[in-house]
Amino acid sequence: MAEREHWNSRLGLIFAMAGNAVGLGNFLRFPVQAAQNGGGAFMIPYFTAFILLAIPLMWVEWSIGRRGGQYGHGSLPGMFDTLTKNKVAKYFGAIGILISTLVMIYYVYIISWTLGFSFFSLIGTFNDFHTLDSMKTFLYSYQGIGEGYFDSQWPAYIFLLITLAVNFYILSKGISGGIEKFATIAVPLLIGFGIVLVVWVFFLGTPNPELPDFSAFVGINYIWEPNFELLGNSKIWLAAAGQVFFTLSVGMGTLQAYASYLDKDDDIALSGLATAGINEFSEVVLGSMIAIPIATAFFGLAMTQTIAEGGAFDLGIIAMASVFTEIPFGNVLSFIWFFLLFIAGVTSSVAMAQPLISFLQEQFRFDLKKATVAVGILIFIGVHFVFLYLDHGFLEEMDYWAGTFGLVIISLFEVILFAWIFGMDKGWEEINRGSDIKIPKIFYYIIKYVTPTYLIFILIFWTYQDAIPTLLMENAKDADIAYRWGARAFMTAIFMSLCGMIWLAWKRNNGKPYTQEEIEGGK
Ligand code: ALA
Repeated sequence: MAEREHWNSRLGLIFAMAGNAVGLGNFLRFPVQAAQNGGGAFMIPYFTAFILLAIPLMWVEWSIGRRGGQYGHGSLPGMFDTLTKNKVAKYFGAIGILISTLVMIYYVYIISWTLGFSFFSLIGTFNDFHTLDSMKTFLYSYQGIGEGYFDSQWPAYIFLLITLAVNFYILSKGISGGIEKFATIAVPLLIGFGIVLVVWVFFLGTPNPELPDFSAFVGINYIWEPNFELLGNSKIWLAAAGQVFFTLSVGMGTLQAYASYLDKDDDIALSGLATAGINEFSEVVLGSMIAIPIATAFFGLAMTQTIAEGGAFDLGIIAMASVFTEIPFGNVLSFIWFFLLFIAGVTSSVAMAQPLISFLQEQFRFDLKKATVAVGILIFIGVHFVFLYLDHGFLEEMDYWAGTFGLVIISLFEVILFAWIFGMDKGWEEINRGSDIKIPKIFYYIIKYVTPTYLIFILIFWTYQDAIPTLLMENAKDADIAYRWGARAFMTAIFMSLCGMIWLAWKRNNGKPYTQEEIEGGK
């Protein structure tokens, strides 16, 4: 009898889960967040959020996923439905599929830039673009938002198509044959690339002895030097929580989807910690030791701060690419950097498609090929909006509602569902079953009381500080307002469609998933 898929090995699972987490967030988003929010002081709210939010939520998500998998569910609507009799819960699950799908739509486009830049590094396309301004024109013309080197968006479109093809090829091979196999190669490779760059940063030191402040060590010091005064500012606590969510892929529905392919008694406590550990190594050790120190060594600290204020792409793409044009073996190092970003991105983006793929398989009896094609078509259509309207806030609008605010909504809902409705005693047993380590009992109380309270505070502050101004488009350019509404309409349309599909599936057979045998047998 055909069985639901399983991970082939524990190591494979850990690599797949680590690949799910380690992504652009670690290498592009983290250094900029740390630099903008108090350097070393950022680490205090960061690790507070890590211990009190991310780790508890990660165990909760793995448990919800592993448990859902026992009932044949690989996506949140079905998983939530098994935890409570309340009929509304499954519609909250729709938000879980929505978020991962939306994030994937803009995330693949960003990854495709890194693929393009890997290629340009190898053939030396931007070798003559030494200054920040000239590299900015190069990037903007590539993205079709400015005049410069490229006179059309075709190159960007081709790299986007290749990126989509790579993603959906991996997905079409399934959990163990596609995602696990790819992650087993990609995760060690990207960590190896990261280590090469960090070692190079240490050798780089102070490239021009006449400018002692232009030093990688000054950059490292900058990112780690705590500015305690900022700790009183709620902004950095929110930024830290947002970073922790994004980097660990908490609140996206992807950890649950992967965990649904575990066995009933497989350990989750230790495996979860191991993957979080790999993510933190990639983020705090590798992520902080590359872009900021390199930029500081070449542009000096004041300029690096200005670049970091400009955002993740100014630092990770424009500044890094222009540095690499100046140094011996720059093309190789540049390739290593951009390709590292590409593979880190792909191991995350494939995870974002998985909840919808599982949903179509289990609720609508799509076989793997059909489900992959269907999700591929949706992402293909969606990414065109981001591709065409990049300059009009389409990406930012999606990133804010799906990639920032949505993660907290899902996390809050699921922790309340798990700890209070399903019940913390049953939940604790679920987390600990098959466990290879003993989780300190204090986490029982953290999950039950601290995590939900913390999330409620974040949500209140965020709503007040960001969500209402964003909702009212207070900072949007006039010319972008129609596009931002377009992005909202698009997101709402996907959400409504998902709700409609859930309604149909539950009407038909109460959400009972098709078995693997039924799926493979077809109609
Ligand atoms: N966790 C993924 C990242 O950090 C989404 O990019």
